[in-house]
Amino acid sequence: MSRSPRYAVFISGRGSNLRALLESHQLHAPSLVLSSRKKAAGLEHARDAEIPELVVRRRDFSGGGEFCRALNEALEDHAIEWVVLAGFMVILPDEFVERWSPRIVNIHPSLLPLFPGLHPHRQALDAGVEESGCTVHLVEPGDVDGGKVLAQATVPVRTGDTEESLAARILEAEHRLYPETLVDLLA
Ligand code: GRF
Repeated sequence: MSRSPRYAVFISGRGSNLRALLESHQLHAPSLVLSSRKKAAGLEHARDAEIPELVVRRRDFSGGGEFCRALNEALEDHAIEWVVLAGFMVILPDEFVERWSPRIVNIHPSLLPLFPGLHPHRQALDAGVEESGCTVHLVEPGDVDGGKVLAQATVPVRTGDTEESLAARILEAEHRLYPETLVDLLA
């Protein structure tokens, strides 16, 4: 019987997607939670679940190469095989993505290729679309929200929606889609 691959979840903030992964009954637990911020609220979820946690801050390194080495060292120390980005707000050096691709995956709150990058909810509202949603995709060098789409979930955009109300509706869909997709990918 083959074993399930060891994976790290990268976060920067509240970590609600991390919590959804930890609460999934189908998915095995991550082997490491890595945060780009000491004060990321999501680190609490790692502590509660007794998952090893680590903070690696981009600003502690003068160049992308050093930052990349620090990330790789952390991942190697924990024998990590897959990188799962969940609200990681730091642009990863190409060198890092090249090293991990195709074993690096992200979730983005829009129906890619629509509305990549920052403020996807605002972009969706400005465009007047009737539906938006979220996308789980592989991360490829040089293209932050590009890469092969693995799964998408759609939600309606309602009259009177604000960025906050749309984000909350999409986030609920994210919390279902990410664990489901990772179960297939990391089984
Ligand atoms: C989510 O909307 C995710 O799609 C995006 O960043 C947000 C992270 O939220 N990449 P959380 O930290 O998982 O609550």
